[in-house]
Amino acid sequence: MIRKANLTIAHNEKIAKSTFLMHLLSEESTLDIQPGQFIHIKIGQDHTHMLRRPISIADVDHSNQIIKIIFKTVGEGTGYLSKQKTGDKIDALLPCGSSYPIDKLTMKHALLIGGGIGVPPLYYLAKQLVNRGVSVTSILGFQTASQVFFEEEFQALGKVYIATNDGSYGYSGFVTDIYQAIQPSFDYYFSCGPTPMLKGVTKELEDKPGYISLEERMGCGVGACFACVLPSRDGGYKKICQHGPVFDANEVILA
Ligand code: FES
Repeated sequence: MIRKANLTIAHNEKIAKSTFLMHLLSEESTLDIQPGQFIHIKIGQDHTHMLRRPISIADVDHSNQIIKIIFKTVGEGTGYLSKQKTGDKIDALLPCGSSYPIDKLTMKHALLIGGGIGVPPLYYLAKQLVNRGVSVTSILGFQTASQVFFEEEFQALGKVYIATNDGSYGYSGFVTDIYQAIQPSFDYYFSCGPTPMLKGVTKELEDKPGYISLEERMGCGVGACFACVLPSRDGGYKKICQHGPVFDANEVILA
């Protein structure tokens, strides 16, 4: 059930180029927040910014009721967030959207493939998988060395391969190039990143079972405005904010 929450910033730190890690203290239990879900943040205290910003959840420290998000400054809204200080308040809707259905899946090995700001939700997922005894291999792609983050955090959970588009760190190329090079064995794959990357991943792994999470600019974030629709393979459509952001890899058609 989505609720409105008044969160307190406990930490806000730049961790890579234009990339910030923020810890948000919740007054209520965080136990209902699942990997893949997002929080929908109001920008500012007035009504200058009408649209909230959807930001994926990178981790949750349930014992301290801390929600961790990682965001990139791409415009006015995220620029505003990057300047907020410890103790400042954030108005958010949470937890929003669907999650990776890991409780329904039986697996020993999982392959995680993330790109850019699609990497954060895979971290919370990786922790949950490792807690369930699943071994995790992560392939993470970034544009360039200065944008790489959370490599050590993922390494603490399993094998990690990093790719940069310009070859300035790790493998030179795309996440799919690493996949082709290492050919890992796995039971399910889970991927999050920009749509061109997801198109490449779902094509490369089209005969494998997996789940993808879409990053899209949203409007209402709660299924009311149709700003985030995309076609589904059953001939209908899906709202990313409500039916997603996590979908079975064969459920939707990526434009
Ligand atoms: Fe309004 Fe999805 S953002 S329906």
